[in-house]
Amino acid sequence: MSYRLLLILLMIGGIETNPGPVKYPCGFCEKPCKSNQKAVACDECNQWFHAKCMGISDESYHQLGNSSTSWFCTNCNSCNHSTTLYDVPLSNNSFSLLSDCSSHSLDNTTSSSIWSPLLTSSPKTSNSRVIPNHQRKGLRTIITNFQSIKNKAAELEVLIETTAPDVIIGTETWTNKDILSSELFPDTYTVYRRDRGTDNYGGVLIAVHTSLTSSEIFSSKAVELIAVKIDLPNGKQLIVSSFYRPPGSGESYLDSFKEDITSLKQQHKKAIFHIGGDFNAPDIDWKSHNVLSGNNIYPKYISESIVNTSEELGLEQVITCKTRGDNILDLLFTSHPTLIEKIRSLPPIGKADHDVILCDAAVEPVRSKHQRREIFLWKRANMDAIREEIKNNYKECDNIRDINLIWAKFKDR
Ligand SMILES: *[C@@H]1O[C@H](CO)[C@@H](O)[C@H](O)[C@H]1NC(C)=O
Ligand SMILES: *[C@@H]1O[C@H](CO)[C@@H](O)[C@H](O)[C@H]1NC(C)=O
Ligand SMILES: *[C@@H]1O[C@H](CO)[C@@H](O)[C@H](O)[C@H]1NC(C)=O
Ligand SMILES: *[C@@H]1O[C@H](CO)[C@@H](O)[C@H](O)[C@H]1NC(C)=O
Ligand SMILES: *[C@@H]1O[C@H](CO)[C@@H](O)[C@H](O)[C@H]1NC(C)=O
Repeated sequence: MSYRLLLILLMIGGIETNPGPVKYPCGFCEKPCKSNQKAVACDECNQWFHAKCMGISDESYHQLGNSSTSWFCTNCNSCNHSTTLYDVPLSNNSFSLLSDCSSHSLDNTTSSSIWSPLLTSSPKTSNSRVIPNHQRKGLRTIITNFQSIKNKAAELEVLIETTAPDVIIGTETWTNKDILSSELFPDTYTVYRRDRGTDNYGGVLIAVHTSLTSSEIFSSKAVELIAVKIDLPNGKQLIVSSFYRPPGSGESYLDSFKEDITSLKQQHKKAIFHIGGDFNAPDIDWKSHNVLSGNNIYPKYISESIVNTSEELGLEQVITCKTRGDNILDLLFTSHPTLIEKIRSLPPIGKADHDVILCDAAVEPVRSKHQRREIFLWKRANMDAIREEIKNNYKECDNIRDINLIWAKFKDR
């Protein structure tokens, strides 16, 4: 299966312009799409969506509007990443030949938008990099089991661009120390990881948007559990945690989990807790908090222990949609269930078989404004003084062949 949300940006058929008055409820926020708002209709089910709700930037919206392009909502997701993202012929886009490919350097360092071509025949306006709408006040969290994040960086980038999450809780990252987080996430996220280490499976991570103030507060020794603190206004805190229970693990694993969470709760008594992850516990009916009877996959104590822990620690599990096949495996426990506004399931990333869970909560983290950066105006530098300095102090470098020695000389001054 592939990441079909992608479609939002893909070009195949036709887009309708905005509907007239009322009675076009947005399929996401359920408020009407008014004629003065940017909205798109799904070409499959004809449901309208606010462009804003779907994270479509103004730029993409205009691109959609001015091309013969289909747009499908996530519910219809009737399309495939593999067959469309890379080879879709932009049929009626009459691009002329690229003038001079070789003079462009393919920039492989920045994370450019996936749908904006690296090379175009018309000049790209600078400053066009779309920053997802982080004006949203509440907290958006994505929870998913990646089943190896390594080869899904492109799909992950699309997921991030379209949903603009503040926090990503990931399990089964299958990462190891040789993989840098910067290879996986755009630089707008701070990534906290706990790789398994003993083999190249398992592993949990939490990625937090850099506009939020976050820091790691806990990484369990015994179990795949990591916790990050995010600042809320007035000194309040949100503790986000990511947990993975390997299918073969037994009672002691969940006991360690309970111990760790208990101690975290004691240290942060007033904090809001969000503990997400893959618990591999399909045998629980989350409406009644009973362990299902019948064809249970795991021993009863596994499910019981999870239910008991959540009840003892005052945590409520809020995901009720199926996350893998017919099972609810990916769970989200929270100390403040009334703050959860919306839980949605989105199609899986790449070939993973777990759906992506999107959760909007009425938690308003402190968001930093753009940070100021010091930029030197070399134009105004005193070049004469610089030349003089180099002449007087680095003359001997002329005779040194070893670059490390030269650097050492420079650094030691
Ligand atoms: C098409 O592009 C023009 C100019 O770029 C823009 O003003 C117009 O709103 C676009 N159309 C749609 C439907 O977005
Ligand atoms: C996805 O692509 C595959 C391979 O081209 C195709 O067989 C399948 O029908 C596509 N699925 C959908 C839902 O379009
Ligand atoms: C491309 O444009 C031609 C003529 O303008 C039209 O007949 C054809 O249907 C278009 N093809 C697509 C895929 O939109
Ligand atoms: C881009 O990738 C090429 C080859 O993969 C590499 O040689 C080059 O250093 C990279 N450029 C940058 C700026 O990292
Ligand atoms: C869970 O709680 C019930 C009721 O208090 C108790 O009977 C059961 O033994 C507990 N199970 C586990 C695994 O802790």
